[in-house]
Amino acid sequence: MKVDVLLGLQWGDEGKGKIVDVLTPEYDVIARFQGGPNAGHTLIFGGKKYVLRSIPSGIFQGDKVNIIGNGVVLDPSLFREEAESLAASGHNLKERLLISKKAHLILPTHRILDAAYEAAKGDDKVGTTGKGIGPTYTDKISRNGVRVGDLLHNFDEKYNKLKAAHEEILKRLDYDYDLTELEAQWMSAIEYLKEFTLIDSEEEINRYLASEKSVLCEGAQGTMLDVDFGSYPFVTSSNTISAGACTGLGVAPNRIGEVFGIFKAYCTRVGEGPFPTELFDEVGESMCELGHEFGAVTGRKRRCGWIDLVALKYAIMVNGVTKLIMMKSDVLDTFETIKACVAYDVDGVEYDYMPYDITEGVTPIYVDLPGWKTDMTKMTSENEFPEEFNAYVSFLEQELGVNISIISVGPDRDQTIIRDAE
Ligand code: GDP
Ligand code: IMO
Ligand code: MG
Repeated sequence: MKVDVLLGLQWGDEGKGKIVDVLTPEYDVIARFQGGPNAGHTLIFGGKKYVLRSIPSGIFQGDKVNIIGNGVVLDPSLFREEAESLAASGHNLKERLLISKKAHLILPTHRILDAAYEAAKGDDKVGTTGKGIGPTYTDKISRNGVRVGDLLHNFDEKYNKLKAAHEEILKRLDYDYDLTELEAQWMSAIEYLKEFTLIDSEEEINRYLASEKSVLCEGAQGTMLDVDFGSYPFVTSSNTISAGACTGLGVAPNRIGEVFGIFKAYCTRVGEGPFPTELFDEVGESMCELGHEFGAVTGRKRRCGWIDLVALKYAIMVNGVTKLIMMKSDVLDTFETIKACVAYDVDGVEYDYMPYDITEGVTPIYVDLPGWKTDMTKMTSENEFPEEFNAYVSFLEQELGVNISIISVGPDRDQTIIRDAE
């Protein structure tokens, strides 16, 4: 059996949580492979809204197995908050959620270091989510990290050693902090975490595959935030691309089946860094307002702009996308004209592929398409789509060379149209 991967093609918040939930009935196992509580995946169904950070978005459906893979970084305090709030709304996770022993732990001092590094960068700050993601992956790569499995062996020694190293750095940075409350909460949360089933997730997943069970890997962030291929250094610290599912779960590359690439009908970004099609006018403001573009976790306002086909083509290439999913089409329902960026003008030179540096001097070259000016939020079939919307979809498919197989017309689970056309 193959594993399918669903991941973001832009700067995150494309709607991954919603679609993983929609696709969950077709799979036996849902697994997160990278990122951590920097993610905020929103699901809306039955008149209720849920935001998931570390827990896979398959957790609400029946008896599906959900796995937090080795590539994820886990903060026990935030995990406990998330898990307890789900339990309070009647979703008991303990039998259905398995956690890799090889996932790295976000220590309280990682969070403090995240803030300290950002403060030290001043105007050059990344605009991180402040969840300790960068410092935790740094310790993983430099071979100093503490893993979930360490909770069961020699934990105190490993924790104290890493904490002491962090305190040295914080002293050198002359950064003021108070660890007492954070640490007490964290220590209590690791006891809670130990109540879950901690596994060798690579063994477990490959066993599922060998017994013909289907697995959906859920990405976090988006391709333009990938540490290798995103707008470095304004990126996150993990590989968000499809290859990340191999390293983040122990799945071999030849096991990858479909790669679902998800994108908004326009584009958003939260945090600092280049964004060639960003709008600073009332059109961008309307997108923000109509799309409720505020961070699911931090509440930060998301920057908005037109769809960027140069970046999308690049993302499709590095991920090997086989199916596209377009989200938030309804947000453009009232627009007179829809613009799509098909190339960049960089200091007078036209690029139809991603240049090395998009920080400065990039002017998007747009194609204008007529808006559909129709409320699409109640549509249930593609037969109801207005002509201009179909023209937009066809234009995107032609430019991108991959079919759009799902179209989302609202935040609810039910506002999702699966297209027949292959
Ligand atoms: P994720 O991080 O990729 O899971 O996405 P987020 O949950 O951070 O952000 C997506 C936001 O858009 C959430 O508030 C969703 O409820 C909302 N959303 C998802 N699909 C649609 C859609 O088709 N239309 C509208 N209007 N909102 C949507
Ligand atoms: P989901 O999974 C949008 C951004 C931050 C910042 C940069 C680095 O919900 O799509 P980090 O805390 O990871 O070190 O921050 O990455 N970022 C996201 N933006 N959606 C996310 O996750 C993000 N996770 C991180 O805003 O610019
Ligand atoms: Mg999000």
